[in-house]
Order: sequence, then structure tokens, then C-alpha cells
Amino acid sequence: MPAFKDQYGPVALVTGASSGIGVGFAEELASRGLDLVLAARRVDRMQALKDRLVAEHGIAVRVVESDLTKPDAPAALVAAVADLEVGLVVSNAGFGAKGYYETIDADLMAEMLAVNCHAPMQLAHAFMPALKARGKGGLVLTSSVEGLMGGPYSTAYAATKALVIALGEGLWGELQGTGVDVLTLTPGATESEAAAKQGFDPSKMQNVQSARDCARLTLDNLANGPTYCPNDHYRALFEQMLAMPRKQALLAMAQGMKPKD
Ligand SMILES: NC(=O)c1ccc[n+]([C@@H]2O[C@H](COP(=O)([O-])OP(=O)(O)OC[C@H]3O[C@@H](n4cnc5c(N)ncnc54)[C@H](OP(=O)(O)O)[C@@H]3O)[C@@H](O)[C@H]2O)c1
Repeated sequence: MPAFKDQYGPVALVTGASSGIGVGFAEELASRGLDLVLAARRVDRMQALKDRLVAEHGIAVRVVESDLTKPDAPAALVAAVADLEVGLVVSNAGFGAKGYYETIDADLMAEMLAVNCHAPMQLAHAFMPALKARGKGGLVLTSSVEGLMGGPYSTAYAATKALVIALGEGLWGELQGTGVDVLTLTPGATESEAAAKQGFDPSKMQNVQSARDCARLTLDNLANGPTYCPNDHYRALFEQMLAMPRKQALLAMAQGMKPKD
């Protein structure tokens, strides 16, 4: 897809590129001919992905170890790609925790804030001047349908993802007419390691989208911001929820999400 590469290449940076949706983005971007920077903590996973994508697509791939719980990690990541012409930033790394709010470990909550909120804010801030100067390019921010309203029993995570939506919507408005596209991705249930990491059996989840489809549809809609949900079932569900009186929607969500005691 030469037009896509011309608009968003030559290099795309993907955070959270060691599993799940980030791998979907890396595969899809590689198939569109972009060179890649893959960032996450698990270097072995990214090295294996790099080897595969280089062999399949003949692109250049750089692997950067990055632990986004560290406050200076976004700046270090920006420095690690300073010699490259990054035309697309996919800020995708993130994680959640489910359960009664007071049972979520306070330190884990601080890490969630760093990875889910601090990192995208800083990365968007750092890359924006160069993207605007080039007059083309893109920024994808991975939020969640859970960021569209309060999320009982996923309260901290939903709050972090609401920040990402507000960040992306604000930037989308600011960047009109600059040639730089901003899209906030609000995935529904998507194949990844996230469910298992939060203690769910992924095989019991319904209406699950593949990470590759999530990435492909998102990239196809990069110019159609401000927000985008690539999962038909969850898009319809949340449109319905958001049309309800807020109290009613929150009570329905609380009932559906309540942990089994
Ligand atoms: N899957 C879903 O159903 C779903 C739905 C809505 C939104 N999302 C969002 O989609 C994004 C991707 O998640 P996923 O579902 O693909 O889950 P995943 O398979 O668990 O992937 C999460 C990615 O984030 C990276 N990450 C986590 N903590 C990090 C840290 N401290 N520093 C750097 N990287 C870190 C992980 O890499 P390392 O562990 O190697 O560092 C991994 O590459 C997240 O923002 C998530 O909130 C997912």
C-alpha cells in the first residue's frame, strides 16, 4: 500500500509490541511496507517478531527495551529513535486490573497510571513537533471501550482509558489542517494476553476480535478520527449504553461486571 506508506512512513513506532494488539499492529504495518520500531519490556518476544517480519517483508526493524512504569522511559524511547524518521506513533502499551477498587494494589495502580496515561501523553508531546513540521503522519492512541464511561469493577483502568480518549480527542481537534491524523482506538474484547493476565479464561469470552483485524481496521480508519471501535459488537453495545441515562448505564454495567463473591 504505497499511499499508506507515503502518508505514515517511513518508520512506525509501536509500543506494547511484544504481544496482543501491538503484534497485530506490527504485522499489519510491516505488510504495508513500513519500517518498525518495536518497544516493550520482553525483548526476546520482540526479537522473534523482528526476525519473522524482516524475513517476510524485507523491512528494517529496531527493538527497544522500554519499561513504561519508569517516569523517564518515554523520553528514553524518544532518544532511542532520534535518528529515524518516525511518521506514525502507535501508543498501545497498557494493562488493566479487575475487581473491587479498594482491592487493587496501590503500587500497581500507580504503574497503570504511568503506562496507560503518562506514556501516551509524553510520547504524543515529544513526537508532535516533528510530525507537524513534516505536514503528514499519524498518532494512534490505544484506549478501550471501557474508557467511554465509568467502569465499575474496572474503575481504575476505565479512568486511565478515559484520559486517553480525552487526550486523543483534544489532539484531533488541534491537528486539523496540519496533515497529521490522530485516532483514538477503543477496542472491545480482542485476542491478547490481557484477559489471562487479569485472571479471566479467554476461551469463555465472546465477540472477541483478532488482534490483526483490530489493527488492520484501525489503520484503514486512521484518517477517520477522533475515536474508532473496530469491533462491531462492542461498538453497537456501547452506542446503546451511551444513549441510556448515565445512572441506568452504570447500574447495568455494575450488575454485569460484579465479581462472583
Ligand atoms: N485485549 C483487549 O480486549 C483490549 C480491549 C481494550 C483495550 N485494550 C488495550 O490494548 C492495549 C494492548 O493490550 P493487549 O490487549 O494487546 O494486551 P497484552 O497482550 O497484555 O499486551 C500488552 C502490551 O503492553 C506492554 N506493556 C505492559 N506493561 C508495560 C510496561 N510497564 N512497559 C512497557 N510495555 C508494557 C506489554 O509488553 P511487555 O509486558 O513485554 O512489557 C505488551 O506488549 C492496551 O493498552 C490495552 O489496555 C485491550
